[in-house]
Amino acid sequence: MDSFALVIFGITSNLAQKYLMQVLYDMTEEGILPEEMAVIGVARRQMSKEEFQNYFHESLRLENIHHKHAIKEEVFKKLCKRLHYINGEFSDPSFYSKLKLFLNSLSKKGFHCSNRVYYLATYPELYSHVFEGLRKNKLNRQNGGWVRLMIEKPIGHDLKSAKALNKLLLKYFNEDQIYRLDHYLGKETLQNILTFRFSNGIFEPLINKDYIDHIQITASEDFGIGRRGGYYDAVGALKDVGQNHLLQMLCFATMDAPSQFSNDAVTTQRIKILQNLIPLPKNIVFGQYRGYKEEKNVSPHSQTDTFYALKTYINNERFKDVPIYIRAGKKLKQTVTEISVVFKNPVNRLLKNLKRGDEPNVLIYRIAPNEGVVLKILTKLPGYKISLEPAYMQYCYRIDPHKHYIPDPYERLLIDTMRGDQTFFNDAEEVEAQWAFIDPLASARGKQHIYEPGTWGPKEADKLPEEDGRAWLEPSMDFCRI
Ligand SMILES: NC(=O)c1ccc[n+]([C@@H]2O[C@H](COP(=O)([O-])OP(=O)(O)OC[C@H]3O[C@@H](n4cnc5c(N)ncnc54)[C@H](OP(=O)(O)O)[C@@H]3O)[C@@H](O)[C@H]2O)c1
Repeated sequence: MDSFALVIFGITSNLAQKYLMQVLYDMTEEGILPEEMAVIGVARRQMSKEEFQNYFHESLRLENIHHKHAIKEEVFKKLCKRLHYINGEFSDPSFYSKLKLFLNSLSKKGFHCSNRVYYLATYPELYSHVFEGLRKNKLNRQNGGWVRLMIEKPIGHDLKSAKALNKLLLKYFNEDQIYRLDHYLGKETLQNILTFRFSNGIFEPLINKDYIDHIQITASEDFGIGRRGGYYDAVGALKDVGQNHLLQMLCFATMDAPSQFSNDAVTTQRIKILQNLIPLPKNIVFGQYRGYKEEKNVSPHSQTDTFYALKTYINNERFKDVPIYIRAGKKLKQTVTEISVVFKNPVNRLLKNLKRGDEPNVLIYRIAPNEGVVLKILTKLPGYKISLEPAYMQYCYRIDPHKHYIPDPYERLLIDTMRGDQTFFNDAEEVEAQWAFIDPLASARGKQHIYEPGTWGPKEADKLPEEDGRAWLEPSMDFCRI
């Protein structure tokens, strides 16, 4: 892999502390960072190189959510050799000439700075200053190396603002330099759906309207908004996760086979699903957990959604009239993310009158926890009587006999950026298709249905499948347990 300079705008951000610093440590431990790579952290506050390294070390410790092991000092020392910091105000044009001089000085010290990744871990309001500052100093040019930009979701807050941001990005960078990042796309369990569907002959012929009754997607958390009140109250569940993570999941579960495993082919299929999704503003329910308005940095009159549930259809031949139910939210009964593909019952089903005899087969892609791919089937309970019991045929990540390392999504996406592979990033058209679906639904938001913490959200959400003679499935914690 090419060496490069990773410039993180907003190194003191929550995002950098929680994810980027952690994966840089992991990658140092794994020995996969290129030899002459430099990490340059940028933020406003004054810090010497030593103070920055101490800050980094402390962040590794405090935000150690991904690390199952203690921080090894010899690994951190190795990482320190790459760590640099400069302070600056992003709206100050003179800061970027300072950055340029700094990069030049690092090149003289043997770091490879003609290839550069700029990571935006700061506020969208500052992006235009950053781009203009880079341009004025020719730091966005690819002279003698490559330049790539990593930018976090959300891209805009509606279709109009997403288009404006895409236009701004394309003024300074080419599409093949822009890595729009939604860490769900970097999840191993999500990427495996493509392998499961397109590398096995058994299931793919069945994933269509002839055999599938409906699809359900659940992304629930049993905790609230924590310290993110200021951000969350302006966004809400639909825009925070519904516009991005949940739609990515739907695309992976329903897209047609790409002609090859390449960025263009895979992204094209995802976009086709998004462009064919039918927004049904009458079939969306919003909710807010009781106690939300008392959370820190939340307006006491807030009408922000902490839950939404919707029904949609894909307007294509393959899934014609197959309903898709999606729900996501906070302070719900369980923390679980999964896609359930529910099969139709056979017409002449034997024993359908027995207890549980009418339960359908369900193919479950469990994204987290107890990650795996599971097929729920009915079996005969051993014994003289005929009685039925559901059982799970399962592939579980955590009992992988080879103990393969599951990379963190941020690590995976950073490596893809280093390699120049955009397959698991969103392009401009994809983000705009997501917003085109979400905008009419977001406009349907009114007064929130209040729900009790620890439940599955407001009971109005149950009506979505019930009106069609169906019900939300209770996610099972029985499979892939270790
Ligand atoms: N946090 C998450 O879990 C998360 C998840 C997904 C996406 N994101 C996205 O990631 C981005 C960062 O979010 P965050 O919540 O992590 O932000 P945050 O914790 O508030 O951090 C903002 C960063 O920007 C720097 N900064 C702010 N104004 C600046 C200025 N005028 N000049 C120079 N530096 C400035 C801050 O540095 P100082 O204050 O130290 O100067 C800090 O490093 C946002 O676009 C967000 O939507 C965040």
